[in-house]
Amino acid sequence: MHITSISGSPSERSRSAWLTQLALTRLEGLTTQGNHIAVRELPAAALIAADAQDAAIAQAVQAVAEASLVIVGTPIYKAAYSGLLKLFLDLLPPEALRGKTVLPLATGGSAAHLLALDYALKPVLSALGARHVLDGVFATDAQLQRHESGRYVPDAELLVRLDRALEPVVPPAPRMHIAAQLNCRR
Ligand SMILES: Cc1cc2nc3c(=O)[nH]c(=O)nc-3n(C[C@H](O)[C@H](O)[C@H](O)COP(=O)(O)O)c2cc1C
Repeated sequence: MHITSISGSPSERSRSAWLTQLALTRLEGLTTQGNHIAVRELPAAALIAADAQDAAIAQAVQAVAEASLVIVGTPIYKAAYSGLLKLFLDLLPPEALRGKTVLPLATGGSAAHLLALDYALKPVLSALGARHVLDGVFATDAQLQRHESGRYVPDAELLVRLDRALEPVVPPAPRMHIAAQLNCRR
């Protein structure tokens, strides 16, 4: 399976980017090819000018085109997805997500805006042609505690929801294995 993940946080130590990586870890056995797009690392001027000819932007857009599964991770900002993520999504061609499976992920300061995935992000994914959208996974900051190693540690309930969201693309056995591994690394 060719997987491309998109991280829409401007933060260097991003919880939502980490959640995106966690989902990728979960899919390790199934990945034949993977790309990760950290939008914060794309050229800012090209993003703001919507310059689809920029080489780095064109490469990122191509990575989305080649994927069969696209993971979209964002922090919740002002009750919606991040503006940084929108800058990148606006550069995708119409129907860019047609025929692909899409997993929406978000982190927020509290559960108050957990529906932002449904009322804000999913309509944009739909406008881009996505018709097979997996259950969105929202995590509060408290569900991703910072470990002294610098990593984030997911709580058990979050792992269960992530596993459930991925069920349509992942058989149960490896999922159990990875969850056990994560617990061991705490
Ligand atoms: C500018 C800004 C706006 C935010 N707005 C919200 C919000 O409306 N709702 C919410 O639950 N969290 C809000 N937060 C908290 C972040 O969503 C939360 O800390 C998230 O985990 C950050 O993800 P990141 O580490 O990937 O950037 C906001 C944070 C910032 C910096």
